[in-house]
Amino acid sequence: MAKSRILVIDDEAAIRDSLRMTLEYEGYEFIGAATGQEGLALVERETPDLVLLDVKMPGMDGLEVLDRVRAMNEALPVVVISGHGTISTAVEATKKGAFDFIEKPFASERVLVSLRNALDQGRLRDENRSLKRAVEVRHQMIGDSPGLKQVMAAVGRAAPTNATVLIQGESGVGKELVARTIHRNSLRSRERFVQVNCAAIPEELIESELFGHEKGSFTGATEKQVGKFEQADRGTIFLDEIADMSAKTQAKVLRVLQEGEVERLGSARTIKVDVRVIAATNKNLEEEIEKGHFREDLYFRLAVIPIFVPPLRERPDDVPLLVRHFMDYFSRENNVRPKRITQSALDALQRYRWKGNIRELRNTVERLIIMTGGDSIDLPDLPESLRSPSASASGASGAPRAAGDEAGKAGTLREFKDMSERAYLVQKLRENGWNISKTAEVIDTPRSNLYKKLEQYQITQETDG
Ligand SMILES: Nc1ncnc2c1ncn2[C@@H]1O[C@H](COP(=O)(O)OP(=O)(O)OP(=O)(O)O)[C@@H](O)[C@H]1O
Ligand SMILES: [Mg+2]
Repeated sequence: MAKSRILVIDDEAAIRDSLRMTLEYEGYEFIGAATGQEGLALVERETPDLVLLDVKMPGMDGLEVLDRVRAMNEALPVVVISGHGTISTAVEATKKGAFDFIEKPFASERVLVSLRNALDQGRLRDENRSLKRAVEVRHQMIGDSPGLKQVMAAVGRAAPTNATVLIQGESGVGKELVARTIHRNSLRSRERFVQVNCAAIPEELIESELFGHEKGSFTGATEKQVGKFEQADRGTIFLDEIADMSAKTQAKVLRVLQEGEVERLGSARTIKVDVRVIAATNKNLEEEIEKGHFREDLYFRLAVIPIFVPPLRERPDDVPLLVRHFMDYFSRENNVRPKRITQSALDALQRYRWKGNIRELRNTVERLIIMTGGDSIDLPDLPESLRSPSASASGASGAPRAAGDEAGKAGTLREFKDMSERAYLVQKLRENGWNISKTAEVIDTPRSNLYKKLEQYQITQETDG
């Protein structure tokens, strides 16, 4: 365990010196301050584990310092020392939240006992807090399928560390939820969680968004901007849709990860930042690397702790739990009476292949809560696409149809080519979340051509199932 850090605020040098000797001898780390002002600055900068505080000091007196320490960090234990120990000062200090009150002259043993008690209590409270948080995690990430349990275990392992985390998984599986849960359960939870959606920011703005810029560093930079990395200092930055970063931005992010420093655009000064990075993508980064779209070295830097969130169709056990969770949630939200759901409706929801994963399920349940008149949700209340067996059955084949499977059915070469082309397009569309522009780019064909093919082969997201 790391040494506990004790900040001693006392105007008398002799007392500071004697406490330094006692504390260091006992294996504590000693920090001294001669005034209240200086002490407060050190509380902020040095994050001590405990403060020993004199009451009577010139300038700001101890009780005022105590108030301010409380305002800065309510969990930091403070032991008050006073040579003018009247009962009333002791009472006041305790009321203001001092852990203990010691009168001068004191025996060093008395100080050490008080200190140990205060530190132990603080530790206990921290433990309680992390236990409580662990419970919260379970309550927010719904599901108890083996797939989700694996994700939760990885979240638990990742949270207390500073390691970078790479979260992969289809759209809507809960990557952002995982990132937030890690932050909330980390030692940085009191600091900021700064999210950057790399796909949503135009290429020419992303660098200044991430790293900031100085006033006048480029046309349009009328004010200086503090970048997201600086904003996230001491906290966590969540780089979402990381595969959409340009090569140039990738290089710069890699540098932050390697050096722990950023440089604002238009500035030669580097700024040290202490940021924990969590990245996410719904693309297959290994494939992006092979295609030369993503830097391998950056990938290794990010994937120190890789977390794969499986699609909902691979963890059907979670569906009933999620449905109930969202039914409760949206009933409360919309102020409607809680509804029941019939087993057959639930079965259909469980069989359905949720391409939009939990987001799609959530939207579906919200619609059902609002649109269903009666007290219970039954099969006929579900939208057609969910009821029809084709939506689940044909989808159940899961894997993209290989061209080879079709080969036997194709009579002519022309038919074979068409079938293969169709299968290829469907697969690529699936891989790209049915995003036409992305797919067109990936397969290197004009969008207009892709649209024509969709027409020709009558490919739609629904009929594909
Ligand atoms: N296990 C879960 N329990 C409860 N709610 C969940 C769970 N997983 C996801 N959700 C909810 O589903 C929605 C989608 O999740 P989220 O935004 O985290 O997905 P995502 O993977 O980041 O999606 P995208 O790739 O589209 O950005 C959110 O409203 C989220 O709160
Ligand atoms: Mg997301």
